[in-house]
Amino acid sequence: MPRPLNYLTTLDLDDAWLDELARTCPRLEVRRVPVRSADEITDTVWAEIDVLHTHDVFPRPDQAPRLGWIQLDTSGVEHVLDHPIWSSDVAITTLGGIAPVPMSEFTVMSLLALAHHQPLLEAFRRSRRWPTAAERLTTLTPLPVDQTTATIVGFGRVGHEVAGLLTALGQQVVGLTRRGVARGPEPDLYFDTGRSHLGLSSVRVAGIERLEAVLPRTDFLIVAVPRTPATRGLLGGAQLARLKDGACLVNVSRGGVVDEAALLSALASRRIRYAALDVFDDEPLPADSPWWDEPHTLVTPHVAGLAPRYREQLLELVRTNVDRFQDGRPLVNRADRGAGY
Ligand SMILES: NC(=O)c1ccc[n+]([C@@H]2O[C@H](COP(=O)([O-])OP(=O)(O)OC[C@H]3O[C@@H](n4cnc5c(N)ncnc54)[C@H](OP(=O)(O)O)[C@@H]3O)[C@@H](O)[C@H]2O)c1
Repeated sequence: MPRPLNYLTTLDLDDAWLDELARTCPRLEVRRVPVRSADEITDTVWAEIDVLHTHDVFPRPDQAPRLGWIQLDTSGVEHVLDHPIWSSDVAITTLGGIAPVPMSEFTVMSLLALAHHQPLLEAFRRSRRWPTAAERLTTLTPLPVDQTTATIVGFGRVGHEVAGLLTALGQQVVGLTRRGVARGPEPDLYFDTGRSHLGLSSVRVAGIERLEAVLPRTDFLIVAVPRTPATRGLLGGAQLARLKDGACLVNVSRGGVVDEAALLSALASRRIRYAALDVFDDEPLPADSPWWDEPHTLVTPHVAGLAPRYREQLLELVRTNVDRFQDGRPLVNRADRGAGY
């Protein structure tokens, strides 16, 4: 009889979810310890743990000799990169693949809201003023969407979903990746295929080295890349200056990928017409942030990835990985230490 596996979560997962996990994974001893820091868990407890499910509570590798797998509650791993556990051989898995469908809906909603001048419409509403007939025609006629080009920086699971919807809107989609190839459903990747099949055959996929070349013909720039040492500052002043005049930007990736000061200045000059931003360098956005008042921007509080079927999908993902962990098979959604995501 194999020994039980000790699973500890620091997340505020409810009893029903944990009971279901324990019921369907009989070898798992399930424990919830909702703490904020590793010091709040004793060395004796750390020494027993096989599986840790957490946001950012990590032991030192020597504290948890039995620890073989950490399941994160995020799609990104940028908050782990500086912790010693990142350099250990403990497998780290992400939530990737749970959010792409709602994220793609959010991204397309944002793109269409920009094309239909939502920032200006909100300003009219706040000032309780009905636009004049001339204002309606000159400033509120929508920007074209069909027959325009959308470039998706980071053409992974989110990018695929976004592309399916944008293709249906009649856009020409360019997807940029690190390796220059599209990433399709893979057995070791949680991949909710949703609607991504809709237009994939017409997407032009290229390596990120093509970024400078595609920016001048990009009408809508969509940022959906993980934040890694290689993507930090990827869209700086020089890149934003190469974008087609009057282009729009939608950022659902992570703060730090787009240079915020350069974007503010490009919006002020209207070189970039509008931006929809769900992620920021500083989160929560401080009260004195210029983004609260920037008139050509839609600002949302990092909500693009909230998923309506999160609990069921999380259970499916964790159960799959418990099975694989028990059998010594490769885990699904394992972060790639070399690629940094
Ligand atoms: N706003 C939110 O609420 C929210 C929610 C969930 C996720 N996110 C963000 O969305 C990101 C993408 O999620 P996903 O599930 O689509 O990730 P994914 O399936 O892992 O795909 C990542 C994509 O980014 C590309 N990439 C990685 N490094 C790159 C680089 N240096 N240059 C160019 N492309 C690069 C990858 O290319 P290769 O395949 O060639 O490596 C791949 O196409 C997450 O990492 C997270 O930061 C945000």
